[in-house]
Amino acid sequence: MKQEINKPFIYGVSVSGKNFTDRVKETQRLKTNFENGLNVILISPRRMGKTSLVKKVQQEVDNRLVHTVYIDIYNCRSEYDFYNKFAAELIRQTATKMEMAMENVKRFLSRITTKISFSPDPMADYSISLGITPKDCNPEQILALPELLAEHIGKHIVVCIDEFQQVGEWPDSLNVQKRMRGVWQHHQHASYCLFGSRKHMMTNLFQNKRMPFYQFGEPNFLQPIPTEDWIPFIQHIFEENGLTIAEHFVTRICDIVQNQSSYVQQLAWNVMLNTKQEVTNKELEQGIEDLLMQSTPLFMEQTASLTTYQMNFLRAIIAGQHNQFSSQEIMETYQLGSKSNVARMQKTLIEKDLIELRKEGLFISDPVLQLWLQRQ
Ligand SMILES: Nc1ncnc2c1ncn2[C@@H]1O[C@H](COP(=O)(O)OP(=O)(O)OP(=O)(O)O)[C@@H](O)[C@H]1O
Ligand SMILES: [Mg+2]
Repeated sequence: MKQEINKPFIYGVSVSGKNFTDRVKETQRLKTNFENGLNVILISPRRMGKTSLVKKVQQEVDNRLVHTVYIDIYNCRSEYDFYNKFAAELIRQTATKMEMAMENVKRFLSRITTKISFSPDPMADYSISLGITPKDCNPEQILALPELLAEHIGKHIVVCIDEFQQVGEWPDSLNVQKRMRGVWQHHQHASYCLFGSRKHMMTNLFQNKRMPFYQFGEPNFLQPIPTEDWIPFIQHIFEENGLTIAEHFVTRICDIVQNQSSYVQQLAWNVMLNTKQEVTNKELEQGIEDLLMQSTPLFMEQTASLTTYQMNFLRAIIAGQHNQFSSQEIMETYQLGSKSNVARMQKTLIEKDLIELRKEGLFISDPVLQLWLQRQ
């Protein structure tokens, strides 16, 4: 894993080992599901720790009877992108040697693909490219691969697919989903862990009765790591670096970013950089300023295309409004236009993941974006 060895706080990439805190219950639960062949759906806002958690469980679970395969489909732009990645990763990750992978390609894919190539890869021993096109294959044969490989290696296979929300963006997505579910639901020796962010997209894929993946697996909403677990984690890292941070400052760090994992580590790192000996208000405030500055390019990009009405909608939420946006009073106070305009904006902003619907109403999804908008 490529991580900067000297950096005490890590953010933006998946974490492991001593950079991974807590999640004891979640790890155990997921591990049990993997070992018992249950399908799992894992959903959370961005940067909460899904990839880190699944990779941790993957390490703990690999044993004589269960083998996990991890596939990140972020870069798959279509059904066939996916089939190529899916088949190649399954073959590669179930083979101990390149020779074995070559054999398995012959055994299971010889009728499907005509342009196989193996090449050295800096991230792994080698990579496989299959060149599968709609002409060569029927998709069901590719989707059946986990079951066939499981029988072949004599182990149960757990297929972990990261960034699964991408599926919802593909052309003809609904039919692809039907195909996937149609094949996978019959598998006896393979199970699936499908996970991703973009809550809106993921919940639509899995919680909508009309969608093929409805009730495909156990739904898990990954919760934030609680403050009481961040306290020892962060205090310990400060101590290791000859610095001190009082408990209530760690609590403030967690509160400001609503315990969103990546931001907690980023803000803690900012504060540490400003600290000579002991954290005071001054270092914390400076750390927050730095965080806002670091986030500004992204937030500018995210808000640049919004209309004045949409910005007004966000302002209303920031002002503490979470419901009743189409009441006359709210529409006038915040200049939201007409009722139909409000309904349309709400839909668009949710689809853009800028706002989300919680039990208490509509909220800004990203805690730092909220802070940034408040300061504007
Ligand atoms: N268990 C953990 N302990 C400490 N920090 C964590 C943990 N899980 C996540 N983080 C922090 O959150 C960051 C993002 O983690 P990760 O990439 O696993 O999240 P993700 O939910 O997969 O994100 P994305 O939505 O971008 O795919 C890490 O770099 C780290 O700073
Ligand atoms: Mg991830």
